[in-house]
Amino acid sequence: MGQGVLQVGRLMPSLTQKLRDDYGAYLLPSDPAEFLASHGDEIRVAVTSGGVGVNAELMAALPNLGAVVNFGVGYDTTDVDAAAARGIVVSNTPDVLTDCVADTAVGLMIDTLRQFPASDRYVRARRWPVDGIYPLTRQVSNTRVGIIGMGRIGGAIAKRLSAFGCTISYHNRHQVDGSPYTYVCSPVELAAGVDVLVIAASGGASTEKLVNREVLDALGADGYLINIARGSVVDEEELVAALVDGRLAGAGLDVFAHEPNVPEPLLSMDNVVLLPHVGSGTVETRAAMEELTLRNLDSFLESGQVVTPVQ
Ligand code: 8YV
Repeated sequence: MGQGVLQVGRLMPSLTQKLRDDYGAYLLPSDPAEFLASHGDEIRVAVTSGGVGVNAELMAALPNLGAVVNFGVGYDTTDVDAAAARGIVVSNTPDVLTDCVADTAVGLMIDTLRQFPASDRYVRARRWPVDGIYPLTRQVSNTRVGIIGMGRIGGAIAKRLSAFGCTISYHNRHQVDGSPYTYVCSPVELAAGVDVLVIAASGGASTEKLVNREVLDALGADGYLINIARGSVVDEEELVAALVDGRLAGAGLDVFAHEPNVPEPLLSMDNVVLLPHVGSGTVETRAAMEELTLRNLDSFLESGQVVTPVQ
C-alpha cells in the first residue's frame, strides 16, 4: 500500500497518522543514511513543514522525488532552486491561514503597546493592592504602522489596523498595484516614519536580516517592532541590543532566529511579548492547513500536479 510518501520532520499528530494509515508513508529517521540507502528511490513525495523542509542534500538522496508538499505558507527551509533544477514541484498552504496570522499580528501589537501580558502578571503577583495602578502604556488606535511585506498576510493586517484608525504604509519587493496604502521604497525610510513596524515578509535569503541595526535605529526609542513572519528577517542580536539599550520601545515576537530558543535577555522584559510561533495555531486553521496539504498530496499522486504550487 506504500505510495512513495515520506514525512520529513514533525507534523500535526492527525496528519502524521493519516500519512501513515492512508498512504503508508515512511517517517524520515533522524539518522537517515540507512533508510535513504534502502528506500530513497521509492520516494515520490516528501511531506514537510516550514520548521524542517527539504534541502538539496535530501533531494539528491531521493532520485525519484517529484513533489515537496509543505504544511504552512512559509517554505524557506525547502531549497526551491534545487527543486526547480530537478523538476520537483513545491506546494504550500496559502490563504487558509491568512486570517489567523493577521489576528495574531494585531493581538501582539495590542499586547505589546498596552503591556497586557505584563499587567496580567502584575495582578496575579498580587501587586495591584500593594503597588497601586499599573504604569501607563501606549495607545494602539490611530498610530502610524509600517508593514514590511504586503502579500496576503500583510494586506489582512493592514485591513484590520485600518479599522483601528491607523495610518498604513508599507515596503515590499515591488509596489502593489491598486493598494490603498503608501509605498515606501526602503525599510529604513519606512521605519523612520512610523510608530510600529510589522514584519509580514516571507523568510529566505532575499529577506535575511532585512531589519538590521539601521532599520531599528530609524524606528527609534519610541518605536515598536512586531514580527509574525520569520525570525531570520530580523538581525536578532541587534534587536536584543536595541531593547537592552532602550533604543527601541518594545517588541512583539511570534518568531525567532533559532526556534525554539529565545534570547535570554528578552525573558525578563515587560515591554516585550513572546509567543511560541502560534500565528496559525487554531483548531480551525490547522484543520484547513491539513486539508489543503492532503489535497496537494492527492493531486500530485493522481495527476503529477499540485493544487497550490509556490510562486
Ligand atoms: C507553520 C508558519 O507552518 O505557515 C507558516 O509559514 O509559520 C506556520 O503556520 C506551522 O507552525 C507549522 O509548522
